[in-house]
Amino acid sequence: MRLQEKVAFITGAGMGQGREGACLFAQEGARVVVADVDKTAAAETARLIERRGGQALAVVGDVSIERDVKRMIAAGVKRFRALHILYNNAGVLWKDRDRSVLETTEANWDRVQAINLKGPFFVAKHGIPHLIRSGGGSIINVGSVSALAGFTVAQDSYTSAKGALISLTRSLAIQFARQNVRCNIIHPGIIETPMQAPYLKDPAKRKSFEEGIPLGRIAQPREIACVALFLASDDSSYVTGAEIVADGGFTAQ
Ligand SMILES: NC(=O)c1ccc[n+]([C@@H]2O[C@H](COP(=O)([O-])OP(=O)(O)OC[C@H]3O[C@@H](n4cnc5c(N)ncnc54)[C@H](O)[C@@H]3O)[C@@H](O)[C@H]2O)c1
Repeated sequence: MRLQEKVAFITGAGMGQGREGACLFAQEGARVVVADVDKTAAAETARLIERRGGQALAVVGDVSIERDVKRMIAAGVKRFRALHILYNNAGVLWKDRDRSVLETTEANWDRVQAINLKGPFFVAKHGIPHLIRSGGGSIINVGSVSALAGFTVAQDSYTSAKGALISLTRSLAIQFARQNVRCNIIHPGIIETPMQAPYLKDPAKRKSFEEGIPLGRIAQPREIACVALFLASDDSSYVTGAEIVADGGFTAQ
């Protein structure tokens, strides 16, 4: 019960890594605000948690819209009376529309930035005052290995938004350290989630991805949720401003 008495706000918790994190956090005693733009998905995650005896509140909104984020956080605080963990997990990877700078439209560039970078800004803006009021807390941002290495198949808006999140992570870590608010970032490699499903359908493509990973396989969402649990809990009480790469060794090559 590493998160007993804690309240966690998790974006993109309707599926993939966010759902897995929400279920694991609840299993460890947290009350979880399940935030997602997909109403059915958010409700299903909350139902899964409640069915296992946990407490959850599904809230629906778009992280790129400030009034949505403000409303979702307020609903969570109203229900659970505190907030200790902000898990900025929501993100989009649109390999068809977000490509090289030479091929990407301004509208697609902006939309990817709005969800992947402005979302965490709004969550930090409206969430941090509650963390401070609760005596401190943990912010977990989700980057990507693509922020650490350029890829031959470019996703330039995604890559640069995730890269900017590293800088935001360090800035928040330093600004709020004296208020006992920690902020760290996880860089996942390839994880088996609905986000990757269209790109992993082709067995040959999947095999070539796996061959490029030293551990020889694509990760399960649980393997990232466990890293997030470490960062959310007091097990990481002296860890702030840090980047944790969970990529099966990909970037160590
Ligand atoms: N899957 C991977 O291989 C991988 C690798 C590196 C980084 N990541 C990052 O991990 C995070 C989680 O990815 P995933 O693979 O679980 O993705 P996913 O697509 O499986 O799930 C993302 C969730 O975010 C929600 N979402 C999307 N846009 C939103 C918005 N505007 N407002 C609120 N919710 C929104 C979706 O409805 C969905 O429930 C993302 O930030 C992603 O960029 C994923």
